[in-house]
Amino acid sequence: MSRRIAVLVSGGGTNLQALIDAQARGGLGGGTIAAVISSKEGAYALERAARAGIPAYVMPRGDFPDSRAMTVALRDKLRALDIDLVVLAGFMHILTEELIAAYPNAILNVHPALIPAFCGAGYYGLKVHEAALAYGVKLTGATVHFVSAEPDGGPVILQRAVEIRAGDTPEALQRRVMEEAEWQILPRAVALFCQGRLAVEGRTVHILGGTP
Ligand code: GAR
Repeated sequence: MSRRIAVLVSGGGTNLQALIDAQARGGLGGGTIAAVISSKEGAYALERAARAGIPAYVMPRGDFPDSRAMTVALRDKLRALDIDLVVLAGFMHILTEELIAAYPNAILNVHPALIPAFCGAGYYGLKVHEAALAYGVKLTGATVHFVSAEPDGGPVILQRAVEIRAGDTPEALQRRVMEEAEWQILPRAVALFCQGRLAVEGRTVHILGGTP
C-alpha cells in the first residue's frame, strides 16, 4: 500500500526538493507526495510543488487567531486528503496536540542541528547555525525525529554530523548542513517510514532490518 505524504513548508523548500528528487528515482520507499501545504503565500516551495505537478495549498498563519486554530484546520485538511505521513520540512510554526493526536508517530520533522543541542522554541532556520557558531562547537549536523508535544523533543530517527570549519558564516554552515545532512537523511527517514521499518519504543526508534 503506497503511503500518501503531505509536506508542510514555509520557505524555500530545498528539503521538499530533496523529497521530490528522491521520489523521482524511486527513493521514498513507495511513498507518494500527495500534497504540499505552505504557511506562506508566495513561498518558493510552492513553485517547486507546481513544477513537480504536486497539488499545493496555502494556509497562512495570519488567517487564524492562534496556533491551535491553525493546527485544527491543518488536521482537517490532512484528513480530507487521506494523508498517512506528515513531513515538516522547514515548517516554521509549532503545532498543537490536536495534530499529534490525529497522527501518532506519523509526523516527521527535520531540524538543522544534532538534537538535543540547539533545539526547542526559538531555534529555527539560520538562528540554529548562529547559536552553534556562537557556542564554538566543532560538530553540528541535522536530525530527523518524530514530532511530539514538546518542540524538537520527539524520538530521534536519523542524525548526521557535519564539521564546522574555521571562518564559517551562519549562511555557509546552513548550506553545508543542508547538503551533507538534511537532504540525505530526510528522504531516507521518509522511505524507512513508508516501508514500515520504524518501530518506536519509548524514546528509541528501532530501524527494522538495520540502519541504512
Ligand atoms: C532547513 O534548514 C530546516 O532544517 C529548518 O529550516 C530550513 C528550511 O529550509 N527547519 C527548522 O529550523 C525547523 N525548526 P528549506 O525550506 O530550504 O527546506
